[in-house]
Amino acid sequence: MADQAQGLRKLVEKMGRAKPSLHMTGSRVVAITSGKGGVGKSNLAVNLALALKEYGKKVLVFDADLGLGNVDVIMGIIPPFTLTHVVRGERGLQDIIVSEYGINLIAGGSGVEELLDLPDWQLRNFLSQLQQLEDVSDYVLFDTGAGINRHVLGFVLAATDIIVVTTPEPTAITDAYALLKVIASKNRDAVVRLLVNRVVNAQEARQVVRKLRLVAREFLSLELCDFGYILEDASISRAVKAQKPFLYAYPRSPASQCLRQVAKNFLAGEGTLAKGDKLTSFFQRMLGLFRR
Ligand SMILES: Nc1ncnc2c1ncn2[C@@H]1O[C@H](COP(=O)(O)OP(=O)(O)O)[C@@H](O)[C@H]1O
Ligand SMILES: [Mg+2]
Repeated sequence: MADQAQGLRKLVEKMGRAKPSLHMTGSRVVAITSGKGGVGKSNLAVNLALALKEYGKKVLVFDADLGLGNVDVIMGIIPPFTLTHVVRGERGLQDIIVSEYGINLIAGGSGVEELLDLPDWQLRNFLSQLQQLEDVSDYVLFDTGAGINRHVLGFVLAATDIIVVTTPEPTAITDAYALLKVIASKNRDAVVRLLVNRVVNAQEARQVVRKLRLVAREFLSLELCDFGYILEDASISRAVKAQKPFLYAYPRSPASQCLRQVAKNFLAGEGTLAKGDKLTSFFQRMLGLFRR
């Protein structure tokens, strides 16, 4: 076990010294997560990706919700391969990317779990393939699972940029707080943005943000960024049933208008909020945290 950790550390150092390619600008990695399930993460991931694409950004959505991944369902596509095929050496990382609506998707499947147990030489191969993805993505949005289990936390604790989604329901807020507590104790440097989904109006969103910001500041010394809100809107459910992203199916719906504002907030925070990250460093941190 110690050997493996040492090997990984060496690998991290070596890759840190690697000469960057001329074309490599690097991707910004963002983890989208929540305390409670079913609050709108996957819809946010897909539609935020689409909105960023409208601003000319290249976006990759990485479905990292291991058991319940459904980004493909929301986009109405069936990825023939997942990360599992890459981890098992059956496909290259580039081969498993599916493109639809001008955005790219990678389905994680159980691949992430298998990554944790790979021998070093195979991991090295995987990490070098990751560098190719940096070229084709300005942003990589990780749609993680909900809650505080090991696999979700791997992504959330390795990310420098985290979007926490909640709804105004007390259960969702309480679970969001529990998650923020872990982030505050284990990933202090991350920028944490709070998005309130399914609100009846802007005032309801403001109240949730105020409440969570206050307790996060007071009890966790964590500064939450107000990332905006999405109104309760039946067109989201209609779009999911039609297996089309709502921004595409109902571009003028209240939800789509809110989402565009969220994308604007995201891009506006670029220079000031986000610290920026590389996909390879992100994965190295994640694996370093959780490989046994
Ligand atoms: N703003 C909203 N208004 C109405 N329904 C919503 C909204 N956001 C999400 N939903 C409903 O919640 C369901 C779950 O959303 P999803 O993005 O899959 O959540 P998660 O990824 O967090 O589990 C959607 O299928 C949709 O029916
Ligand atoms: Mg989901």
